[in-house]
This record gives sequence, C-alpha cells and structure tokens, in this order.
Amino acid sequence: MALKLSVLGVGYLGVTHAACLAQLGFEVLGLDVDRHRIDRLRAGEVPFHEPGLDELVRTHCRTGRLRFTTDYAEVGAFADVHFLTVGTPQAADGDRADLRFVDAAADALAPRLSRPCLVVGKSTVPVGTAARLAARLAARTPAGARAEVAWNPEFLREGTAVTDTLRPDRIVVGVASARAEGLLREIYAPALEAGTPFLVTDLATAELAKVAANSFLAMKISFINAVSEVCEAAGADVLALARVIGHDARIGHRFLGAGVGFGGGCLPKDVRAFRARAEELGCTAVGTLLGEVDQVNLRSRRRVVELARESVGGDLAGRRVAVLGAAFKPGTDDVRDSPALDVASAVSREGAKVAVYDPMAAANGRRARPDLEFVDSMRSAVTGAETVLLLTEWEEFRRADPAELARWVSVASVVDGRNALDHVAWSAAGWTVRAPGRPGFPPLLSGPAA
Ligand code: UGA
Repeated sequence: MALKLSVLGVGYLGVTHAACLAQLGFEVLGLDVDRHRIDRLRAGEVPFHEPGLDELVRTHCRTGRLRFTTDYAEVGAFADVHFLTVGTPQAADGDRADLRFVDAAADALAPRLSRPCLVVGKSTVPVGTAARLAARLAARTPAGARAEVAWNPEFLREGTAVTDTLRPDRIVVGVASARAEGLLREIYAPALEAGTPFLVTDLATAELAKVAANSFLAMKISFINAVSEVCEAAGADVLALARVIGHDARIGHRFLGAGVGFGGGCLPKDVRAFRARAEELGCTAVGTLLGEVDQVNLRSRRRVVELARESVGGDLAGRRVAVLGAAFKPGTDDVRDSPALDVASAVSREGAKVAVYDPMAAANGRRARPDLEFVDSMRSAVTGAETVLLLTEWEEFRRADPAELARWVSVASVVDGRNALDHVAWSAAGWTVRAPGRPGFPPLLSGPAA
C-alpha cells in the first residue's frame, strides 16, 4: 500500500513540499497551528507568491491527495512518514536558532502516535537537534508506537521552489537505519530514477549539510563584497574582476554578484546560527569566519547608504529619494531581512523623502515598514527624485530606458546597489552612476559574457 505522508508546518517550505509530494502521487496531510492559514490553503490559496505553487495546491486539493488540518490526532493516525517543516527563526536574544516550533511539533505529535513511524526533519537546525529530537519523541510516544528520526535537508530557492523540489540537484538523507533509508528511497523514487544523486549520511552530517551550503553561498557573496571595498580603494572594477575569476571552473560565476549583499529568510539567519552552534562546540575557526561574513554583509548595506548620501552631495535630509525594489531578491514578494528595505529605512531616518516601488513586494513591505511610503509604479517613485537607488534587480528595472527615466527625475543620479544596470548606457543617457566596487565604472572587459 502507498505510504501516507504528513507535513508539519505549512510555511514556505512546508506548502511546497506537501504540494510536490501530492504531485508525486502520495496522499498528503499538511498541518499547521495557524487556523487562518489552513483555511486559506483548504480554499486553494497560497499565502505567498511562488511560481506554479498555487496551481499545484489547487489541483491536489481537488484530487483529494492534498488535505490540510490543525489536528495533531488526525495526523498521528494518518501518516507513516511525518515531515517536519516548521520554521527555525533567529532567537530574539542572540544569533542561535530558536527551536521552539520544532520542539512544540514533536511534543504535540508524539502522544498522538499509535504505530511505528518515521519523523523526517527538513527544517534547518543546529547540528545535534535530530539526536535530541529522537530522545524527546521517545520519552513522549506511547508504548508500541516508536518514532524513528531521519534528516532530509531542503535546498530549494524562493522563486524556483517547485522545480527545485520536483527536480532537485541532490537529495541528502541522514538516517540511523536501513528501514529509514528504504522509506526515503520509496518517496523520492521518481527523482532517483531520473538520476538525481542520493547521498546517504548520518544524522549530524545531514543537519550540517544545509547550514554549510548556505554559509558557503553567503561567504562567496561576502568575499566579492569585501573585495569590492578594495576595488574602490584601488580604482579597480569589481564586475570585471568577478568575471575574470569566475572563468576558473573551480570558482564559477554564480554568487559573485557584488552589491548591497544577501538577505532573505535563510542565508542571514543560517550564517548566524551556524556561527553560534560552532562556537558552542568550541570550533572557533568557523565562528570567526562566519562572523566576518555577516559583518561584511551588513557593511555592504551601509556602503550603499553612503553612496546614496554622496549622490546628493553629502546630506540626505529633505532630499527626494526613489527606491527601486523592496523584496530581498527578484521573483519573490518576500521582504524578510531585505537589504533593500534596510537601506530605504536608513535613508529615511536621515531625513530623506523616500518613495519605494516594488512590482511584487509592496504589500509585505508596507506591513514590515509602515513608516516608508510605497508607490505603485516606477514612474511615480522616480518622478522628481534627486537620486534613484536600485536595490532589487527586477527585470523591469534592468530593462528600463534610462533616457525616459532621465526626463522624469529632478536630478539624473543613480546608485546601482545590485550592479545590475548597463552603466555605459545610463551614463550615455546623462546619468551620474554610482555602484559598489566600481569607482570609475569603466566599460567591462571585452570577451564572452559571464
Ligand atoms: C537560499 C539558498 O540559495 C537555497 O539553496 C536554500 O535552500 C534557501 O536559501 C533556504 O535555506 O531555504 P534563497 O533564500 O531563496 O535561497 O535565496 P538566494 O537565491 O540564495 O539569494 C540569497 C540572497 O543573496 C539574496 O538577497 C540575493 O539577492 C543575494 N545574492 C545572491 C547576492 O547578493 N549576490 C549574488 O551573487 C547572489
């Protein structure tokens, strides 16, 4: 008989995972303690923007393969395998991860189990959590209902979450038994048949795989941002430099985009949580390295504020500033730890009159920063502006015609916080262009584009 699956915690990761499991043909029950969220999902409404996900949820709510509940007893009786996908935010009092939701889910599930099952953690957690969770479940599970723990980290990116889940570049499973591995092989059979690498590890390695991967990506971004400081001091060009080093296949071109730095619900908190956990374990090298990655990242935001200040002659007070972008990256409405909003708020605190435009994230931006003014078009943001800050590299901004924009602004001055614009074309259209790591923005090297 086909396995029955539950997904505990239907946030970004959970909804995507549940819908994709239903797409693979399984019966799936998604649980959340947020009744409002469950009601919306039952009506086929996904509470955030993710390409293709609405359709998948609606389809499988209709086929009946995907259902949602707030009732742990229903989940406990239903599933053979429970995926744990609750959030692990940064703790309010420090850098470590807050495991409150992981513990609460385990405590609520354990007493409602009535037969042996597998609990598969997907949430990003500090190494050692799986072992702790196994003991916690064992202490609360009724006799005859053993819950084994496995760890299966998730590497999906916002904006491509559905395809990343259905066609992952690797599947990592941390297991303590052949039975757990067998169950996970059964669930991921289509991806395995398609040749996806299936990497079997112990629990601790699987937990570390996720924070190590995100920290490495963050380190690449902070590396190029730190180097961009040197480019500015030395009169070199960070874009040309990144392109040169990226041609070395060992380095690669991706995640070497210099600018305002990384944000989002994952990279910043994962870097901090990994640093905190490494230090708890007495491993100071990772702690020091990642502490610097975080500092460089925060400095990159401040550097863009400095460029904004410079662009209006040194004092932002009373100046009209257009901010293009609020989302932490293009293709999403997510504004969690968004560098764009941080810069917009900093500029506003210095007394500037800021108008923010984002094609998708205005509603979330307004909720997160009620003090900022959000407008509903690029044209209304830039009209009368004395400087324009490009902070999220949406296609709409990349493709904008600099000559047309120049007619709307009061001063043709732009800070390209993402190094996403064609500086030569913008300069030719009369703009003064400033960008991190490009003190003279010379034309890029000739040769193949990255
Ligand atoms: C990230 C990882 O890429 C996923 O593999 C992981 O599964 C996910 O976190 C997670 O932990 O759930 P995501 O948060 O969607 O995915 O965003 P990324 O595409 O990694 O971008 C992160 C940030 O880095 C964005 O603010 C982006 O603008 C910035 N970035 C990216 C740069 O500043 N420069 C670059 O060259 C690339």
